[in-house]
Amino acid sequence: MSLHIGDTAPNFTIATTQGEIDFHKWSGDSWVFFFSHPADFTPVCTTEMGKTARLSKEFASRNVKPLGLSTDTVAEHMKWIADVNDTQNADLQFPIVADADLVVSKTYDMIHPGESKTEAVRSVFIIDPNKKIRLMLTYPMNVGRNFDEILRVIDALQLADKYRVATPADWRPGDKVIIPPSIKNAEAEDIFPQGWDEIRPYLRFTEVK
Ligand code: BEZ
Repeated sequence: MSLHIGDTAPNFTIATTQGEIDFHKWSGDSWVFFFSHPADFTPVCTTEMGKTARLSKEFASRNVKPLGLSTDTVAEHMKWIADVNDTQNADLQFPIVADADLVVSKTYDMIHPGESKTEAVRSVFIIDPNKKIRLMLTYPMNVGRNFDEILRVIDALQLADKYRVATPADWRPGDKVIIPPSIKNAEAEDIFPQGWDEIRPYLRFTEVK
């Protein structure tokens, strides 16, 4: 099955380092940063797990729950977490899915056979509280992800939902945002009483706080 932005994130029940979870129940009213890894005890993955753990306050302040996955067992994950904490100055508290049978990895298309038939590539799914997939990223096994970008895109998605705006290239929190073309000027006057700069009729920048 191929998944797309806007699809409902498929539910699953599976063993994790924090016990069995029903994904939809576990995520509750939170956003989810669901990210896969090729294997435990591998160097790039270890740095990514440590980074996610160190960013726990950043995720929590955005109402985001991290959920890791690799295609190993709970017992292996538990030993690996001790290593992650030892080597990455971290205290890893989020669950890691034990997908040794590849059930979730296959459902989420995380196995790319040209890379490996048994290990997941580095996929990211940002899933909103309505269980909709809002962003998908795929990195190869040998390139660690950019966590500034992961937080930035979560900020952009949450801002877009709150203010009905879009964000320009390289947007950072506090920068001007874009009024989407679907909102015509007459409606924009109600939604954005602060006004906007019209560079072109289709390119309008405004500020939101
Ligand atoms: C790593 O996490 O370091 C890694 C895993 C699989 C292939 C290459 C690198």
